[in-house]
Amino acid sequence: MMNNESGPPLADSTDQEPATPAVHADGLTVVRGPRTVLRGLAFDVPRGRITGLLGPSGCGKSTLMRSIVGTQANITGTLDVLGRPAGHPSLRTRIGYVTQAPSVYDDLTVRQNLDYFAAILAPGRAAAERRRTDVTRAIDDVDLATHADSLAGNLSGGQRSRVSLAVALLGTPELLVLDEPTVGLDPVLRRDLWNLFHDIAARRGATLLISSHVMDEAERCHRLLLMREGEILADDTPEALRTRTDTDTVESAFLHLVDQAVEASRTKEHTR
Ligand SMILES: Nc1ncnc2c1ncn2[C@@H]1O[C@H](COP(=O)(O)OP(=O)(O)OP(=O)(O)O)[C@@H](O)[C@H]1O
Ligand SMILES: [Mg+2]
Repeated sequence: MMNNESGPPLADSTDQEPATPAVHADGLTVVRGPRTVLRGLAFDVPRGRITGLLGPSGCGKSTLMRSIVGTQANITGTLDVLGRPAGHPSLRTRIGYVTQAPSVYDDLTVRQNLDYFAAILAPGRAAAERRRTDVTRAIDDVDLATHADSLAGNLSGGQRSRVSLAVALLGTPELLVLDEPTVGLDPVLRRDLWNLFHDIAARRGATLLISSHVMDEAERCHRLLLMREGEILADDTPEALRTRTDTDTVESAFLHLVDQAVEASRTKEHTR
């Protein structure tokens, strides 16, 4: 089973800039090649909560996440993360990021992969004991203790993506940015991972930003950012979204908002 002891509470998540949101964007625009991929986004991600980032393939979810973790070029507008401009060097150890494609070394075991990334996060002999504890906890968190000594290359797809997630959990980051972490996982594992995400938010006060295009996962988030074609369609709680659109599910609410947006842009073109 998943380990419910997901580490100590974050010491410094609230003593600095307690009033600032985890992420604050205003007029955020990103150009990739010939395309404007994000178009003047304005939103806040509150601290200590799970925010779901949802929208169809190609709408800009990964680009937004890359911007937040500081790996995206050609950004204009405001993007503050944990009270600092995105990409600030001091944010490196405060953010955990899982990319859409699992990035692990196939020729290392699960534990060796984690030891390697733990050494980058907390180098030096003095931190050796902490690294060992961190690595063991992260492996337990993602339920891979029985595979700790297996080569990553010999794991299943779902197991490999859990190794990536374990890497992001090292060092108890204040902000976890997870790009489609549950893709390809079976329903039991998906449920266990969502329980872990809630546990991390509740116990550590960490902020989680999780992308998905599976709408039933939206219901498990505290807040939602719904995206379409590089714009934010809605920024609300699942319940408020359902109420506002008079629908039963977030999926229906999303479709309703898409139809509204399409209609609005048609009317705009018509009146030009
Ligand atoms: N390197 C690139 N150069 C130019 N355009 C790019 C590049 N990478 C992505 N794009 C474009 O940016 C847009 C947003 O891509 P992004 O990967 O952010 O979407 P996404 O919402 O994460 O999609 P998915 O759900 O399929 O992962 C897409 O239209 C894509 O074609
Ligand atoms: Mg993506």
